Amino acid sequence: MNPVKAIKGTRDILPPSTSVWNHVEAAARDVFRVYNYQEIRTPIFEETALFVRGVGEDTDVVSKEMYTFEDRDGTSLTLRPEATASVMRAYIEHRLDQIPGVKKYYYIGPMFRRERPQKGRYRQFFQIGAEVMGPPTAGSESPARDAEVLEMLATLLDEVGLRDWSLQLNSVGSADDRARYNKALREALKPVVHLMCPDCQRRAETNPLRVLDCKVPEDQPIIEKLPKISEYLDEGSREHFDQVKKMLDAVGVAYSINERMVRGLDYYTRTTFEFTHGGLGAQSAVLGGGRYDGLSESLDGPKAPGIGFAIGEDRLILALQSQGEEASARIQAFVAPLGAGMNQAALKLARELRRAGITADLGDENFRLKKSFELAEKSGAQHIVIVGENEVNADQFAVKNLASGEQVTVPRAELADFLRK
Ligand code: HAM
Repeated sequence: MNPVKAIKGTRDILPPSTSVWNHVEAAARDVFRVYNYQEIRTPIFEETALFVRGVGEDTDVVSKEMYTFEDRDGTSLTLRPEATASVMRAYIEHRLDQIPGVKKYYYIGPMFRRERPQKGRYRQFFQIGAEVMGPPTAGSESPARDAEVLEMLATLLDEVGLRDWSLQLNSVGSADDRARYNKALREALKPVVHLMCPDCQRRAETNPLRVLDCKVPEDQPIIEKLPKISEYLDEGSREHFDQVKKMLDAVGVAYSINERMVRGLDYYTRTTFEFTHGGLGAQSAVLGGGRYDGLSESLDGPKAPGIGFAIGEDRLILALQSQGEEASARIQAFVAPLGAGMNQAALKLARELRRAGITADLGDENFRLKKSFELAEKSGAQHIVIVGENEVNADQFAVKNLASGEQVTVPRAELADFLRK
């Protein structure tokens, strides 16, 4: 026998840990609601061209990591490696710019990248993301949007219970700023690049910004001496970034500036950020995001500056677990029919309890009392409720607290309230 297994880099998320996932998603939806974000659901696969044009041909994600396949009619399709390009496509396709104001969307779902699997890095992973976009006249370009998004993220991470995260902030400037910076980097790299690692030698040619990502220890002293992006920001970009920082200071969201944080996707302009957590090891970014003022135009859309982020949900959950977050699925009552013919009465009682919001599991009249107790204890139930003939006739039930061992008799009408306490 050769049983079929899940594909490398994918995984089953099983109970009880699914309850942590549910907790995180419910908390995120609550936060999105109070910040007036609405859910958007875009397809899992798109035309390959969307990501090539939106995310950028030279990025690792597009050039190395996409799951691309030919449809039966010859169209090239790709499993989405991220969702920002898809959300922008939907915005353009449905003329959402015609609806007044900035649009605020969120999404929760799987993304696909063919990376080398390791802790916190999978080939199918989940993102909880959000995007704010709209015409500049609606305020989409304002640094207030950036600050609001970052402040919301701080709230969201607090709400899900993540402690000790840190926010790293940078500005990668406008497209013009970056062009000038790239030129300066190329110049500065010329005399030293032969001393650097093979990856850097390649990056210096194709995409010099990526050199700043290099982790090779020997290269670090060279990288430290390279020009800094902040020196190449024009007046507008610098002022925009200053405003973002001032607003964060005003609301008390702590951050540190990391000029070497150049994000891996080509659409970013101006503000970029990552939130990191110490419990994650090498893949320390819980989430990443930034502004993308030219993305719409690169997809032939109207001017629609925007900013957004995506939380790596797998990583957020790892981080929560690293600080001892336990999955908890508490059964409040195990309803145990006792004796032949008691299944009906037990089902009826379980139905009443469940309708009153009590989490209940149900045994079987064929189980002896001892077995019912064993099953109830193994299930982690807080109480066992015995449904025998005497109980049904008296319309009151023997209830035992499985932790304390205390047993009482409770009238049917009071049972749900009793179990809730
Ligand atoms: P990203 O930095 O590529 O940005 O991904 C965001 C987050 O997704 C990462 O910080 C990480 O937590 C998680 N992630 C990425 N790849 C993997 C993987 N292979 N396994 C597990 N988790 C992973 C984006 O995707 C942008 N669309 C974010 C954005 C939205 N920017 C603007 N709007």
